[in-house]
Amino acid sequence: MSRKILVLGIVGAVSAAAGLAASMAAGRSASELVAQARETFGELPKDMATAEHPVTPERVELGRKLFFDPRISADGAVSCSRCHLPALYATDGLAKPLGAHDRANPRNAPTVLNAALQFKAHWRGDRADVEEQAKKALIGPPSFGDPDYATAMAKLKAIPGYEQMFAKAFPGDSDPVTPDNWANAIGAYERTLVTPSRFDEYLGGNENALSDGEHRGLRLFMEAGCSGCHNGPGVGGGTFQKFGVKEDYWKETGVGAPDKGRFDVTKDPADLYVFKVPSLRNVAMTPPYFHDGSVDNLHDAIRIMGKVQLGKTLSDAEIGDLAAFLTSLTGKLPDDFAEAPVLPAAGFKPQPSPGG
Ligand code: HEC
Ligand code: HEC
Repeated sequence: MSRKILVLGIVGAVSAAAGLAASMAAGRSASELVAQARETFGELPKDMATAEHPVTPERVELGRKLFFDPRISADGAVSCSRCHLPALYATDGLAKPLGAHDRANPRNAPTVLNAALQFKAHWRGDRADVEEQAKKALIGPPSFGDPDYATAMAKLKAIPGYEQMFAKAFPGDSDPVTPDNWANAIGAYERTLVTPSRFDEYLGGNENALSDGEHRGLRLFMEAGCSGCHNGPGVGGGTFQKFGVKEDYWKETGVGAPDKGRFDVTKDPADLYVFKVPSLRNVAMTPPYFHDGSVDNLHDAIRIMGKVQLGKTLSDAEIGDLAAFLTSLTGKLPDDFAEAPVLPAAGFKPQPSPGG
């Protein structure tokens, strides 16, 4: 037993030394490292507004209330925050969340924090942006589960106060309570949910914002090739890639019935097992991991990434450094997300089912 540990220890030391030698050979000084990191990741914006999707105080205030309101759903129990809980960094801790009438979702719930930085929404990129995501959630059977948009809008209008808030947020619209404005308001709120972290302080010029282990992890993240896919201000979220470049992912994650990814959306054989590269911001706070929530800890998720994406067997020390770097991406929860808003008072009114 002790001999085995000793041998493993030596192997670990040798590979750590080899890793060190490799990074010395690459010869990046501390200032070169930060320059390369700035080029690879870029600057986190203050918010994620666009010309088409502006952030106004009225939209954000309304969108924040809507995000936390369960009374628009089919069974009165499902709000956005049911699966994107502030206390769990806008996830729910389940492999696959439960929606209206406890219907199971086919995939894991990613965080909504910084989500609008990404080029598409959802694991398979089947939503263009956070607005399309919010709109379709209303009628998604394992989400809000409403039978149609008209039912959802009738529920909103029945709660005294919302019509006035929609009118304020969308001045000039003669009938402002629409599925698009539901989406625009929630989208505006989501576009404010940016979480700057110690890594951003580091990119901004404060070298001491990262510990030694985090520096080593950042270096390895770029040199081993993780940042070939996880780059830009979201540290991911900019491209589609195959999950399982070097070997089938399910051999490592152990899932029985692999999700075919974007192939099921496009029917293009080139999209088999292709998923959106997720943003890794706050990733240390959002287990379980992967599109199916099949891996419950960050250490294993990193090991599997090394194996199936890069064909590399990472040592425990390397995985530890990478995990340290990823932990430096944990930001502070925005105040208006951490604290629940007060909603207009009204009891949930069950919608009569079509049959009566
Ligand atoms: C029943 C659980 C549930 C509810 C309710 C829910 N979501 Fe989600 N959310 C998910 C799941 C699961 C996914 C991933 C779906 C996929 O990729 O196929 C997701 C994905 C997202 C994404 C995309 C994130 C990314 O990285 O691609 C955003 C944004 C989002 N949800 C926001 C919302 C908003 C806003 C609401 C309310 C209108 C909402 N969600 C309601 C479970 C839920
Ligand atoms: C070839 C592109 C590629 C490379 C290289 C890559 N990744 Fe990934 N990464 C992905 C994709 C795609 C996913 C989503 C997999 C899925 O469908 O669940 C992912 C998921 C992850 C996740 C899980 C995120 C979550 O929220 O569930 C972590 C953590 C991660 N990668 C870290 C790394 C690390 C560390 C490296 C380097 C050792 C790395 N990745 C290399 C493409 C890549």
